[in-house]
Amino acid sequence: MPDYETFQHDVLVIGSGGAGLRAAIEASAAGVSVGMVCKCLLGKAHTVMAEGGIAAALANVDDRDNWKVHFADTMRGGQYVNNWRMAELHAKEAPDRVRELEAWGAVFDRTEDGRILQRNFGGHKYPRLAHVGDRTGLEMIRTLQDHGVHQGIDVHMEICIIALLKDGERVVGAFGYDRERGRFKIFRAKAVVLATGGIGKAYKITSNSWDCTGDGHSLAYHAGATLIDMEYVQFHPTGMVWPPSVAGMLVTEGVRGEGGILTNADGKRFMFDFIPENYKAQTADNEEEGWRYTQGDKNARRPPELLTRDHVARCIVREIKEGRGTPHGGVYLDISWIKKRMSNAEEHIKRKLPSMHHQFKALGDVDITKEPMEVGPTTHYIMGGVHVNADTQMSDVPGLFAAGECAAGINGANRLGGNSLSDLIVFGKRAGEFAAKFAKENSLGRIDNDKIDTHAREALKPFENSAGENPYSVQRDLQEVMQHNVGIVRDEGEMRSALDHLKAFWERAARVGVTGNRDFNPGWHTALDLKNLLTVSEAIAGAALERKESRGAQFREDYPEKDERFSKVNTVIRKAEDGSMEVRLEPLPEMPDYLKQVIEENK
Ligand code: FUM
Repeated sequence: MPDYETFQHDVLVIGSGGAGLRAAIEASAAGVSVGMVCKCLLGKAHTVMAEGGIAAALANVDDRDNWKVHFADTMRGGQYVNNWRMAELHAKEAPDRVRELEAWGAVFDRTEDGRILQRNFGGHKYPRLAHVGDRTGLEMIRTLQDHGVHQGIDVHMEICIIALLKDGERVVGAFGYDRERGRFKIFRAKAVVLATGGIGKAYKITSNSWDCTGDGHSLAYHAGATLIDMEYVQFHPTGMVWPPSVAGMLVTEGVRGEGGILTNADGKRFMFDFIPENYKAQTADNEEEGWRYTQGDKNARRPPELLTRDHVARCIVREIKEGRGTPHGGVYLDISWIKKRMSNAEEHIKRKLPSMHHQFKALGDVDITKEPMEVGPTTHYIMGGVHVNADTQMSDVPGLFAAGECAAGINGANRLGGNSLSDLIVFGKRAGEFAAKFAKENSLGRIDNDKIDTHAREALKPFENSAGENPYSVQRDLQEVMQHNVGIVRDEGEMRSALDHLKAFWERAARVGVTGNRDFNPGWHTALDLKNLLTVSEAIAGAALERKESRGAQFREDYPEKDERFSKVNTVIRKAEDGSMEVRLEPLPEMPDYLKQVIEENK
């Protein structure tokens, strides 16, 4: 075997977004050596794209808020298939994690009396999102990074991990290559934390960055870990639809939180027509009351634009399908209308939504202080991922931990906006703490050189086949199929056809070819990403087929209702002995009475 450069850490964190950084900080604080591998440059992880805020029951804007209300909102939003213990820990610990960020230097927007300001978001009963204009993720990363670099974390930038290394049942490291020169690297570690984010690049229209290719999901699955709830892919209701080069780019829910309304081509505020029965009591049925809510009137009910994302996205799709869409195939999102209500509206919009103002002006020549935006649903987030222990974040594979979007449980069938940034810091911290503990209790494992050789040979195969198919064609076809056959509205026929296509894509992926050499070669990188994209796509389609009902983010035209038989099960995915993907339904753990009572009290 060639002599690959080898690094050694007690804890290896794969991913440098909010969860990865927070895990690395915590592990390092526990006194172990920490290495952090970033697919991109440090500071560029997809978390920087998060806009609207961090959900935490600080009760700074509405003193009726507390962990119990946050817990109940999260469970209701997730349609009660969440991991209740994760939802509980998250609601209880998020406020401390936010205050800690502030202590580490995060500059949040402020209430008049100087506390962290919180804004409204869909599905949250009270204004709960601590924010920094519409650049909250950027501030989170800046803060964590500043804090982390002073703790002696070893950062390995622009590294792609292609396999986890095991010694028997235990994970003992990872194998990857540097994107700059294509050199292989071995990372030995006593514990590994996956914090690789999402899978958005499996779809054509997505708010996700180039690096969201399901790496952690796929690495964990191929290392023998269990994935759960992969059918639940969240389509954020509002992404840009025009110009085509930026279609899918996020338009923060913060726009609706600040009073933005959705209208169709007839100028109708259509969300008033689609208020679900179980949300009627808390949803405004007129403009006046909705506006008062966004202005902090505690007696007013929330506007229908702030219903949960799954619901709003489906309503938008209906408007478009029924011919009431905008010229570029979306609906209108209008914040400029608040001029009717506010004398300083223009200045207010620019202050609260500076990125949105800039994004639309620079990319679409639209001034959002004067005219509406055109928006439509965009693939945003996956609720499914690596099955972990709620307290420790360890997966079913000893030594392998996961946190953030690549881990599953907290969000159930649908995530509330803002619960992702809080998830990153709550469970990133826990993953770091318990990975460090595991590392202290275990020694470095044995590395299997033959396995490494096999991984390296596999990775270099596309160079032996320079006349083979271009990897981008496979990626593009895969994105089309996932977009159209396993998207917002699903049915059995389309998903079976998607699975047939996926079989063919696996075969095509095995034959792709690249030219040039290993120095920064994006074609080769794409060829290697295909395994991850195909793995997560197969898991999404397989799980979505198995769940024969509609719940949260999964809407099936052939089973349009919720079905009691599926109300207490997870879809569970494991790699079978023969290498095939096994999809099963397994019961959720029973919720303890004290949490049932919290839900009851908050109904
Ligand atoms: O709309 C947004 O700003 C997105 C937030 C989130 O997904 O949590």
